[in-house]
Amino acid sequence: MLSLETAATAAYVVAALLFILALAGLSKHETSKAGNTFGIAGMAVALIATVVLAIGRDIQPLGLGLLVGAMAIGAAIGLWRAKIVEMTGMPELIALLHSFVGLAAVLVGWNGYLHVEAHPDGAEAAHLAGQGMLGIHSAEVFIGVFIGAVTFTGSIVANLKLSARIKSAPLMLPGKNFLNVGALVVFIALTVWFVIEPQLWLLVVVTVLALLLGWHLVASIGGGDMPVVVSMLNSYSGWAAAASGFLLGNDLLIITGALVGSSGAFLSYIMCKAMNRSFISVIAGGFGIEAGPAEDKDYGEHREITAEGAAELLANASSVIITPGYGMAVAQAQYGVADLTRKLRERGVDVRFGIHPVAGRLPGHMNVLLAEAKVPYDIVLEMDEINDDFDGTSVVLVIGANDTVNPAASEDPGSPIAGMPVLTVWNADNVIVFKRSMASGYAGVQNPLFFRENTQMLFGDAKDRVDAINAAL
Ligand code: TAP
Repeated sequence: MLSLETAATAAYVVAALLFILALAGLSKHETSKAGNTFGIAGMAVALIATVVLAIGRDIQPLGLGLLVGAMAIGAAIGLWRAKIVEMTGMPELIALLHSFVGLAAVLVGWNGYLHVEAHPDGAEAAHLAGQGMLGIHSAEVFIGVFIGAVTFTGSIVANLKLSARIKSAPLMLPGKNFLNVGALVVFIALTVWFVIEPQLWLLVVVTVLALLLGWHLVASIGGGDMPVVVSMLNSYSGWAAAASGFLLGNDLLIITGALVGSSGAFLSYIMCKAMNRSFISVIAGGFGIEAGPAEDKDYGEHREITAEGAAELLANASSVIITPGYGMAVAQAQYGVADLTRKLRERGVDVRFGIHPVAGRLPGHMNVLLAEAKVPYDIVLEMDEINDDFDGTSVVLVIGANDTVNPAASEDPGSPIAGMPVLTVWNADNVIVFKRSMASGYAGVQNPLFFRENTQMLFGDAKDRVDAINAAL
């Protein structure tokens, strides 16, 4: 008869395949829903198989109760959070979830030590030593705790930065690169030491070192690079899970961790390329980026426009490009924007949208909002598709976007966002910027666009202003 152990192993293979299908599905708009369903199915199979496996291994009733209880509580909290989270709060929630994976890896590592290395004369240590695997086990404990602790504090800092509970500007400790590299060198030396002589104090030291390193790595990265950091922490959480998989002898955890780890690393790489950032610099905590002089440049005066003035400008325009950003999401202005688009198109104005790859707080954020408001797909274009068309466009509406339309990125080599591709909105005849104040965007950088001769500011909540323009039209 099929043993429970064999059945669980087979289920793990099925779950692993479902996870691979999930990743494949999530790589395209059209198949992303199916990808999500594959992921849910894979996780359900994995959870059931884990419980079945535990029963097959004669788990005590108390242990089984704890296992099922923890799963039920976790599922309830997960469902509740997923239900109430706003689209704009997604990245910070994801960052928080990564911190749990990191913490779990630290706990699994410590548990491994307390079971094996802490009792050198115990049965488990003797068994591993007999197979010549004790050193490997110690390395797994040490590396797992290190990656887990870096992920844990790094993700907490990312969560705090993304939710604006701490400043998004990079922390600039003196000799920060030396601190990061030094911590890595100490980690390698301690790993060798621990494998030879697995002592408790070494594990304590590496845990503290990694917690500090995780904090410092992410604190040193500026707001403009946060999208890459989130996907990098995603990758770290995958490697932390894989390390736990080795310790627990769980193949599915190893496979899943490796899938998350490598896909996260690849996504970070693609995002770095799209934003013209150095991958190594970002993963090494802003390596090579030094603090620039404090900004006290005088950009001159800005001009303002009213909603009625904007409506008039739009009514007389032949072509309009709308570049939305985070502020459109905050104001939930997409429905008004869709209305405005329809009105202008009925008047024969050519209206299109230009979407920056990191507009908003997660990739695809703007596309989802516009689709929700039923803006036709074919007029929503990517940055690369539309960037040459601003020249000759009558009016550009910058709705709650800031960093993504900042000319300093292409014109000021000393800017913290220098080199990042931006929508070249300033080439249009008229630019109207919708925002509530002259405050800077997420990267904390002043935007010279607001002071250009062809730019006018339309202050107020984006939804109110768009509604006022619709009324005036
Ligand atoms: P931001 O640079 O953050 O600018 C958004 C602007 O919207 C702000 O300047 C704000 O100005 C305005 N705003 C906020 N609420 C508003 C409201 N209710 N009505 C009108 N305006 C409002 O946004 P962006 O241009 O979309 O750029 C995205 C930034 O976020 C980039 O720096 C990017 O690196 C970063 N980021 C991106 C991601 C991903 S993956 N996309 C993840 C994390 C961070 P006021 O306060 O003056 O109104």
